[in-house]
Amino acid sequence: MSKKVDLDWGALGFSYIKTDFRYISRYKDGKWDDGQLVEDNNLTISEASTSLHYGQQCFEGLKAYRTKDGGIQLFRPDQNAKRMIDSCNRIMMPEFPVDRFIDACVQVVKANEHFVPPYGTGATLYLRPFIIGVGDNLGVKPAPEFIFSVFAVPVGPYFKGGMAPVNFTISEFDRAAPYGTGAAKVGGNYAGSLLAHEKAVERGFADCIYLDPATHTKIEEVGAANFFGITKNNEFITPKSPSILPSITKYSLMHIAENYLKMNVIERDCEIAKIDEFIEAGACGTAAVITPIGGIDYKGNMTVFHSETEVGPVTKKLYDTLCGIQSGDVEAPEGWIVKVQ
Ligand code: PLP
Ligand code: COI
Repeated sequence: MSKKVDLDWGALGFSYIKTDFRYISRYKDGKWDDGQLVEDNNLTISEASTSLHYGQQCFEGLKAYRTKDGGIQLFRPDQNAKRMIDSCNRIMMPEFPVDRFIDACVQVVKANEHFVPPYGTGATLYLRPFIIGVGDNLGVKPAPEFIFSVFAVPVGPYFKGGMAPVNFTISEFDRAAPYGTGAAKVGGNYAGSLLAHEKAVERGFADCIYLDPATHTKIEEVGAANFFGITKNNEFITPKSPSILPSITKYSLMHIAENYLKMNVIERDCEIAKIDEFIEAGACGTAAVITPIGGIDYKGNMTVFHSETEVGPVTKKLYDTLCGIQSGDVEAPEGWIVKVQ
């Protein structure tokens, strides 16, 4: 490693730390410029930018992992690049090409290599690509110009305790409309979730769970993560809905459950009234990794799955296999890993 940083890797949470370099490319007159790494972490944009007024922006989240031999690798960055294209299409922003997205991530990781946490610390380098509408504009219409950027932050667990069960409560709010922007990773969905999150935390829960916005009878999302449940029949069940963010971690776990753990994998409704069909449950996402769900509170009644304090055996196997693949200890399916060095 060229430089050293003085961080207590094992104590990291999910908070902003300024790293040395970020990548920026600007879109003007119908094309993206060549892009470059810059040191300044401030952006100067027009006061009339659509990202400030009309929420015309989207973002992604992925991680760089240190391997046992000191290498660094990315997990399925092509999937983040493709999802960002879907988000852009949903809110009328220009697509940033998949190969350029991956190249930008690789450049940012290499330039901040000394911030990639050591193997075995449980910490990783989180990458935050985003696109914002900028330039002078007043009416509700797409921006004349855009900025694509990627910055990096070393992070630990998103939920306190990491791989330890936490409790959730069902929210009375919706995070998205039935055919709104729930499947796109756009900032407005998250602004709409802040109050629901705050109310859940005030009541002692890690976060809230959203039900489907049309009928409020089926589980959709666990805060900023997807939901899965395990049945006594060795099934991996996860909700299917047009207003859920298609989680790359969730689709990876579906593959792992089927091919590594030989489980039956089913995407279907997870009715809150039948929540006790699950013997284990979890939240999954890039930031959340796998966070075991101890129990779910619904209208004052708590359903506990495996245990409020111990991780269930299937959740543990899923976690070990996923993290093993991400940090190079378990063989990955073809195309899942991009080596940075
Ligand atoms: N659902 C929401 C609302 C999210 O913000 C995230 C985070 O990206 C996820 C699910 C998990 O998606 P992924 O596994 O691609 O990180
Ligand atoms: C992620 O898991 O990458 C997320 O985007 C979740 C949250 C930090 C917004």
